Amino acid sequence: MWGGMTHTITLIPGDGIGPEVSAAVVRILTASGAEIEWERHDAGVVALERHGTTLPHALLDSIERNTVGLKGPLTTPIGSGFTSVNVGLRKALGLYANLRPVYNLPGVASRFEHVDLVLVRENTEDLYAGLEHEVVPGVVESLKIITEVASTRVSKFAFAYARAHGRRRVTSVHKANIMKLSDGLFLDCARNVSRDYLDIEYDERIVDAACMHLVMTPEKFDVLLMPNLYGDILSDLCAGLVGGLGVVGSGNMGDNAAVFEAVHGTAPDIAGKNLANPMALLMSAIMMLRHIGESERAGAVRQAMVAVLAAGKVRTRDLGGTSTTTAFADAICHHIEYKGAAPSTPA
Ligand code: NAI
Repeated sequence: MWGGMTHTITLIPGDGIGPEVSAAVVRILTASGAEIEWERHDAGVVALERHGTTLPHALLDSIERNTVGLKGPLTTPIGSGFTSVNVGLRKALGLYANLRPVYNLPGVASRFEHVDLVLVRENTEDLYAGLEHEVVPGVVESLKIITEVASTRVSKFAFAYARAHGRRRVTSVHKANIMKLSDGLFLDCARNVSRDYLDIEYDERIVDAACMHLVMTPEKFDVLLMPNLYGDILSDLCAGLVGGLGVVGSGNMGDNAAVFEAVHGTAPDIAGKNLANPMALLMSAIMMLRHIGESERAGAVRQAMVAVLAAGKVRTRDLGGTSTTTAFADAICHHIEYKGAAPSTPA
């Protein structure tokens, strides 16, 4: 394999199937020749049992120091007083943009072809600010917070991403016809930023119409930019266009750190049985490799994964096969090693 620098990356293996899919991904990245020193940390229920908190300081310090993390799924403890660990991590590290590329993969059944779009979701505010209260019995209020600062920075992220990745259009998704002030402000910010990116087309879609068009002609979309709630819903809808949550990666991006994560949960029903599909975490790891400047290795891992899927012999149960997590990882490792030293074209 071709040479490179050593990267130190924080690894949160996670709960349930997390340790199994993390082990598979670490093995595949090692086979790619990527020189990574992993700093392993607990979060979620495991961290609560061991350290008395779901988000230990040592974990946050590690990501701040390394600026990059890879995260398996986490169980948020049930009961009052526990906010989502994922939300906590994003807030603590200022990971303001959620990035989810969505595209078809050979051998993964889906209703559509030629889907190749990217969702950029604002990650810190909107109705997810968690500001709810009971006004009087029987009446509750939930505050939708949209700020110029957060809307502008996520818009800049979307346009910069589009330019850096050869994308041609950014589409803002909104409901400003009803929420004239809040979504109106989001649109104003996106429009302002778009003026600095005249090489990228800019347009807007109302969220309900966007949903209809996405399930009719998804191949027409490119980069989608949106506030938190629409982003949460549309990112799962879009995952469904190409085979579901098990086959898409995701990154939470900030100015000083990025955490790449599988978007599925801990799958307690299959945990510990060597049945989980590691693809979602692997897709996130491929995004991570690109983010740290290892585009050639990202391309090699992606090519190997695509080759194994296309051959159709080794597939986990969720994709209609009978293979184990380790068998799928083995097949990808063999493919990378068989391909040998020549750097592949970045995907
Ligand atoms: P889930 O995603 O864990 O499971 C839903 C279904 O998908 C299950 O049948 C499961 O077996 C299957 N599945 C999920 N990932 C798979 C994989 N990689 N390979 C094969 N099959 C897979 O969702 P659920 O059951 O709603 O949540 C379980 C736990 O996960 C909860 O504690 C929840 O809080 C947590 N969770 C964590 C997330 C995160 O850390 N990002 C996201 C979603 C849920």
